[in-house]
Amino acid sequence: MPQDDHPYRSVLYMPGSRPRALEKARSLPADALILDLEDAVAPAEKPRARELVAEAVAAGGYGRRKLLVRVNGLDTAWGEADLAAACAAGPDAILLPKVETPADVTRAADLLARHGAPEGCTIWAMMETPRAMLNAGAVAGAHPRLEGFVMGTNDLVKELGAAHTPDRLPLVASLGLCLLAARAEGLVCVDGVFNAFQDQEGLRAACVQGREMGFDGKTLIHPDQLAVTNEVFAPSPEDVALAREQVAAFEAAEARGEGVAVVNGRIVENLHVVTAKRLLARAAVIAELEAAQ
Ligand code: COA
Ligand code: MG
Repeated sequence: MPQDDHPYRSVLYMPGSRPRALEKARSLPADALILDLEDAVAPAEKPRARELVAEAVAAGGYGRRKLLVRVNGLDTAWGEADLAAACAAGPDAILLPKVETPADVTRAADLLARHGAPEGCTIWAMMETPRAMLNAGAVAGAHPRLEGFVMGTNDLVKELGAAHTPDRLPLVASLGLCLLAARAEGLVCVDGVFNAFQDQEGLRAACVQGREMGFDGKTLIHPDQLAVTNEVFAPSPEDVALAREQVAAFEAAEARGEGVAVVNGRIVENLHVVTAKRLLARAAVIAELEAAQ
């Protein structure tokens, strides 16, 4: 379950082996950071990266940015030591790669307890294999400590034998299954990365698609991707103005004893007001976070 209403518009990966990136992240406008020990770190660098990440987390200085440590798989030579070191340092969450079954989550939850992770430290799951897609509903409900899904779209494309296409049609079924599972259990759900990190227009299109599908935000690989992502996943000024109008119109209708209002030629019912109020609350949280950064 989510711990609070923190936004996850922009979730930036960085190799745990790069001190410069770990340092720079303290001042970047990211809602959350993934300090990676898995695929972004070469085998020879794994022990050093584990130390660097633990030091960075323990040292702090990341402000309101949520800190997720992506450990190596628990069946690898590094996984459990990564998890133990991360638990001791106390990040906001442990991100597990290649989660496929509810047992993968409960096993990690047992290890978190055994290694004395702080109470608020949650578990996030990388959803990136065909079996994970088919088990998404059960995985989402596996343990109360599970807070969110991160789509691993590069691994998924590889495992499916699919192609990277601009419309991401080959991934729509997988993305949709994970969103359904996450929403059914009240989890956060963050979209996969956009590989061409200097292509701002391509990134914008992918962000808009992800937002329209219902994702909370997107994982990123480079600081140059932050501005567009934060903008697209935040309610726009027009969205906020419309939401305010809908709430006001509905309240006025209610005062007249009516259950339905009309704004801009469109019907506004109670359920639209729920959505509008949620959007206004999200805009307020984001404004407050940005003011604090
Ligand atoms: N997080 C934090 N800072 C980052 C960063 C990241 N992901 N990527 C780059 N930076 C920093 C660099 O340290 C550099 O800072 P400086 O100029 O203040 O020293 C600045 O941003 C510009 O970086 P740039 O030179 O454009 O990029 P690069 O060539 O050093 O690195 C990548 C490019 C793709 C190798 C790098 O962005 C990266 O490693 N991304 C993350 C990859 C990853 O974690 N993958 C795993 C999940 S898919
Ligand atoms: Mg992966």
